[in-house]
Amino acid sequence: MYTVRKAEKKDVKGIVKRENSCFSTPETEESIYTFLKSKTFFIDVIEDEGAVTGHCIYFFVPDNAEIISLAVSPEKRRMGFGRDLVYSVIEKAKANGCKEVFLEVRKSNEAAIALYNSIGFHQVGERKNLYSKPEEDGLIMQYII
Ligand SMILES: CC(C)(COP(=O)(O)OP(=O)(O)OC[C@H]1O[C@@H](n2cnc3c(N)ncnc32)[C@H](O)[C@@H]1OP(=O)(O)O)[C@@H](O)C(=O)NCCC(=O)NCCS
Repeated sequence: MYTVRKAEKKDVKGIVKRENSCFSTPETEESIYTFLKSKTFFIDVIEDEGAVTGHCIYFFVPDNAEIISLAVSPEKRRMGFGRDLVYSVIEKAKANGCKEVFLEVRKSNEAAIALYNSIGFHQVGERKNLYSKPEEDGLIMQYII
């Protein structure tokens, strides 16, 4: 049985470790603490039988939400955790009166694009050289609530 909950201080080390293992430009421990204190940014974690298996960082602005990081530990992938973290953001965005959820994704990230498409996100734009290490274009995807 697993649950999505708000991240707490005790989760920070695991979140940083997962960021480092999943991304070439990860969020730092300092930025994770800043998000935890923020009233605009939020971090959710997914906990499966006492172990945190993934996290999602997002923010709300009037009318929309944006996901800035989503990561599931490599040994826990394809078990629905990524999908449930995104669904949870969509539910919260809906409750906040948001009309859309946005995110950016590397053009080559087939797993993430497949996940977002399966949920109902659509590509609405593309940004040249959005990413570094390695340099790559980014797709902008939107989910309409
Ligand atoms: C992208 C990521 C978050 C997906 O998490 P996950 O928990 O494995 O995804 P889920 O199990 O919820 O997958 C849901 C659906 O997404 C699609 N999907 C997920 N991973 C996929 C893959 N490797 N190949 C093809 N489709 C995939 C499938 O449709 C899947 O449904 P199915 O398993 O019933 O076929 C995970 O691979 C990850 O952490 N990657 C590294 C970090 C990253 O790239 N984050 C996204 C940044 S934008």
